[in-house]
Amino acid sequence: MIDAVDYNQRQHESYQAGRELLAASRARWGQAFAARAPAQRPLACLDLGSGTGRFTALLAELFGGPVYGVEPFDRMREQAEASPHPEAVRYLAGRAEAIPLPDASCDLVLMFLSFHHVRDRPAAAREIRRVLRPGGRLLIRSHFSDRMPEVHWHRWFPSARAVELKMFPALADVTDLFAEVGLEPVALDVIRETFTDTLAESARRLRTRAISTFEHLDEAEIEDGFRRMEAEIAEGPEGPTYGDCDLLILG
Ligand SMILES: C[S@@+](CC[C@H](N)C(=O)[O-])C[C@H]1O[C@@H](n2cnc3c(N)ncnc32)[C@H](O)[C@@H]1O
Repeated sequence: MIDAVDYNQRQHESYQAGRELLAASRARWGQAFAARAPAQRPLACLDLGSGTGRFTALLAELFGGPVYGVEPFDRMREQAEASPHPEAVRYLAGRAEAIPLPDASCDLVLMFLSFHHVRDRPAAAREIRRVLRPGGRLLIRSHFSDRMPEVHWHRWFPSARAVELKMFPALADVTDLFAEVGLEPVALDVIRETFTDTLAESARRLRTRAISTFEHLDEAEIEDGFRRMEAEIAEGPEGPTYGDCDLLILG
């Protein structure tokens, strides 16, 4: 497993600006979650590894709340608390291995790019099983090392792909882990997310280093990558940036 990232150190300062969702992408993810959520309303939801709350308010809008945003790093949680959010949202200190909620209290658990940060994954699987109600759903947005897509910015940062191959688990590792606690795969959806409208905007956001992969690259490679990326942008033309994102649904 790759070294843990301390989101209290640097990531919390740049995360919101560097990872902001385009309105159309937020709506696209909303559709994707609703398509796989249990049918009844309201739904009690857990945004596990909620970070700065990028998806927490959306879950309340979609499903009527209550929504718990559980996040281990104080500085990330402070950003979430400071952002506008509906009353149905509560942010709590905690982590996947020790979820601060009662048994059978959630209909839907979302882990959006947080699963790969969890160190003790068997403990997390047991905790998710414990808080999920019967018929509940677990949605995991992650990369999987055995089906890594092309990532648009990797071509300027030659070590990034190898870093991410170490960072993300294989799909079967995740499905086997959850099978141990009685959660089976329901579907694996591929959602196309537009990240930015232009390549220049992508470079500006990447410069904030709000993607934890940068924590594992050396400075010379990073600076060289940005020099080459920005030289290409100067030559134009530059379209939107997007990626195909895996969403694993278990229940
Ligand atoms: C890439 S961010 C994603 C945040 C948010 N889900 C989003 O999409 O904006 C990963 C988050 O996982 C959190 N995290 C790290 N270890 C965790 C753990 N053991 N349990 C739950 N979340 C964890 C990090 O603190 C960080 O906020």
